[in-house]
Amino acid sequence: MAKKIKAGVIGAGIGKYHIEGYQSHADAEVVALCDVSEETLAATGEAYGIDRLFTDYEEMLELDLDCVSVCVPNKLHAPITIDCLKAGRNVLCEKPLARNAREGQKMVDAAADAGLTLMIQFNNRFRPEAQVLKGYADDGAFGDIYFARCGWIRRNGIPGWGGWFTSEEVAGGGPLIDLAVHMLDLTMWLMGNPEPEICMASTYSVFGPKMEALGPWGTPNKKGKFDVEDMAVGMIKFAGGQTILLEASWAARIKREWVYSTLMGTQAGASLERVFAVDGVDDSAIDTLEIFTQEQGEAVDRVVKVEPDPAMGRHSAVRHFVDCLVGGKPPISPGTDGLRIMRILDAMYKSAASGKAVTIR
Ligand SMILES: NC(=O)c1ccc[n+]([C@@H]2O[C@H](COP(=O)([O-])OP(=O)(O)OC[C@H]3O[C@@H](n4cnc5c(N)ncnc54)[C@H](O)[C@@H]3O)[C@@H](O)[C@H]2O)c1
Repeated sequence: MAKKIKAGVIGAGIGKYHIEGYQSHADAEVVALCDVSEETLAATGEAYGIDRLFTDYEEMLELDLDCVSVCVPNKLHAPITIDCLKAGRNVLCEKPLARNAREGQKMVDAAADAGLTLMIQFNNRFRPEAQVLKGYADDGAFGDIYFARCGWIRRNGIPGWGGWFTSEEVAGGGPLIDLAVHMLDLTMWLMGNPEPEICMASTYSVFGPKMEALGPWGTPNKKGKFDVEDMAVGMIKFAGGQTILLEASWAARIKREWVYSTLMGTQAGASLERVFAVDGVDDSAIDTLEIFTQEQGEAVDRVVKVEPDPAMGRHSAVRHFVDCLVGGKPPISPGTDGLRIMRILDAMYKSAASGKAVTIR
């Protein structure tokens, strides 16, 4: 029997999906888990049958591991990923790649220096409906996609309000870096990853700093802070002439949470949507994939029936990472794709602060 890929996971929040992803792959096993919270560590270790538990990731790196999932707050992505790569471990890092492109570049360089794989967990690419849509795009069904609209907007969904998510210093930003990162990546991937050139953006911070509960997402920790945006909008232009309009919110007076990517091509268009009946309640979401064409002179709407994945592609992404390590192949979402997105987000924040269009470098 071939040797199994030995994985370690750092951070046991969303890191649980990584554990499940490895444990659902026949060629992988999770041999160690690290979390600074002893309580979380013990509970997660027990729940998933992992007995090598660490509160210090550097100690965990002394084990014989093939790869590590980095699932910690954004500020720690760069230092921990770089330490893992220097220790000879392949890395699957959660999104966003880092707080900014400067940190992200160091991660990408460290992977290149070590000759190891750095994959970013852009799990939305691995949703079944996204995979089907990518198949259409790669087959040329849309012709040239020249315009797209995408976003992730919530009426009431500030994560960990007053915790690390709402601290600029730890998170690097608000819903732009937390939510829009997913849909911008997905949309650019569907468009064939065009080279970004210039952007114009605005950010707003209307409800977050008030620290008044907005509804079922719970009570903010008023001892913490909120110094990021709670909404962002922007336009990105690409070297090939394409344009994307992007919006993201954690809190806004809108009907309900909506996650979407709408493509407009010279042959056909498409819409991938996740509409929530109850704001922030995943079980209430309805996923649809539609294709819009013109046939026999008539407008035709096709609904493509795809069984959605309740894990939103998170397990499949981890399994893909393992497949790449086993097969010696590059991942479909390398660290460099995460870096391209960070360059755009940096420019969008700069544009919002300056009120001017900003060249993406
Ligand atoms: N892909 C997705 O769908 C998705 C969803 C949520 C979060 N995320 C990303 O995952 C990352 C973690 O987010 P989360 O929601 O799990 O946050 P979280 O706060 O729920 O969990 C983070 C965990 O990391 C632990 N931790 C903090 N510092 C550590 C350290 N130095 N060493 C070891 N453990 C440490 C914390 O104790 C905590 O248990 C973030 O970058 C976030 O953007 C991705």
